[in-house]
Amino acid sequence: MPTRSKGKRPPTGVAGAPTPPAKVRTLSLLKMKRAGERITCVTAYGWPAALALEEAGIDVCLVGDSVGMVELGYDSTLPVTLDEMIHHARAVRRGLKRALMVVDLPFMSYQLGPGQALASAGRVLKESGAEAVKLEGGAEVAATVRALRSAGVAVMGHIGLTPQSVHALGGFRVQGRGKAEARKLLSDARALQAAGAFAVVLEGLPEAVSRSISRALDIPTIGIGAGAACDGQVQVWHDLLGCLPQAPPRHSRAFAGTYRIQVEALKEYQRAVRQGRFPTPRETPLP
Ligand code: KIV
Repeated sequence: MPTRSKGKRPPTGVAGAPTPPAKVRTLSLLKMKRAGERITCVTAYGWPAALALEEAGIDVCLVGDSVGMVELGYDSTLPVTLDEMIHHARAVRRGLKRALMVVDLPFMSYQLGPGQALASAGRVLKESGAEAVKLEGGAEVAATVRALRSAGVAVMGHIGLTPQSVHALGGFRVQGRGKAEARKLLSDARALQAAGAFAVVLEGLPEAVSRSISRALDIPTIGIGAGAACDGQVQVWHDLLGCLPQAPPRHSRAFAGTYRIQVEALKEYQRAVRQGRFPTPRETPLP
């Protein structure tokens, strides 16, 4: 019978080759929180973005239902369908290796209860290859989170400014301003953790509120518009990279201005075609 060696693991790979960074898993995020290492999460909706996100070493890739607003031109996330999420998630999957891949369950694909959530999450995981799903809500979705966990599905929670409830909230407004609201958010976060969520997104909250939630939870908090006290940050791809003509929201920062770069490149292409500078013989197939 083979015995398991207690010694050092034999080296793998080519001698001298750099060790590839370890795959990020849900437990890695917990370890990062414990070690005080901040977690980075960025949204992606397609294959090229996933490649870039991987090369940059971002920890978590969220295929967000924000795809509806930044890629599909809707004015909220409400119209996004499960099929649309799966379509984008499949493309992202092909570009990811190390980053943990999380996919949003879109509006009305889980609100009917655990049965509907299991069917939707099952489709997402089987058809896209994602490793986890995210859903919005606090104590009211705890039973759903528990059912998903019982079925082996990793779940990320999302509380505060939950965009799928934009009309019920009266717009995209900061949440948790009063004491009662802040207390409710803390108990929602605790309910998600108790139900088995591996992390929770805190969106649109005063920093004092997200700090007290982050301190109270064992699982990591990932903030957006919630200040720097969270265990990690998530940002929308188009905001970070300035992909749209308008300025990013106040809680974001455009680290590049790619919309302008694209317009200038397209103008230059058009000029080159019109002036006969493109294609040159170099860009023309040999006879
Ligand atoms: O859909 C999304 O991009 C999100 C993040 C903003 C957290 O839910």
